Amino acid sequence: MSGERRCAPATERNREPIYAVLAPVLPYRGLVLEIASGTGEHAVHFAAELPGLTFQPTDPDERSRASIAAWIGHSGLKNILAPLELDAASPIWPVKSADAVICINMVHISPWGSSLGLMRGAAAILQKGAPLFLYGP
Ligand SMILES: C[S@@+](CC[C@H](N)C(=O)[O-])C[C@H]1O[C@@H](n2cnc3c(N)ncnc32)[C@H](O)[C@@H]1O
Repeated sequence: MSGERRCAPATERNREPIYAVLAPVLPYRGLVLEIASGTGEHAVHFAAELPGLTFQPTDPDERSRASIAAWIGHSGLKNILAPLELDAASPIWPVKSADAVICINMVHISPWGSSLGLMRGAAAILQKGAPLFLYGP
């Protein structure tokens, strides 16, 4: 714990292996929407490694969004946007288009409606062929 920056030990352990799989399937440029960003550590790590991309972290939980914002401030990175409130189950998402959607460790810990909403929401904002990347389930 450092200020509002929360640390998840599992995130520190898995961010490199996830990055290794994720990097080759992401586009070189564009917007990556992250669903269920949690502490924000993944988004900040990926944004630092992939400066050609802009990351949009989101989470429905206010405390998580505070942690994400704190990590962004601490990182000094310019290619990561302020966190948005987004519930995957909601029919209305605050982002209307993205070049990739990533969702790490949400599907298996949330009600089935979140997964259905994730599929519906991602399909609505991604162009044909753009990736939806899931980790965890
Ligand atoms: C186990 S944490 C994973 C956080 C982060 N992705 C990670 O791997 O460290 C699960 C996250 O899913 C979020 N979450 C739960 N239900 C959700 C929903 N319906 N839509 C979006 N996020 C949700 C929670 O707020 C929490 O931040």
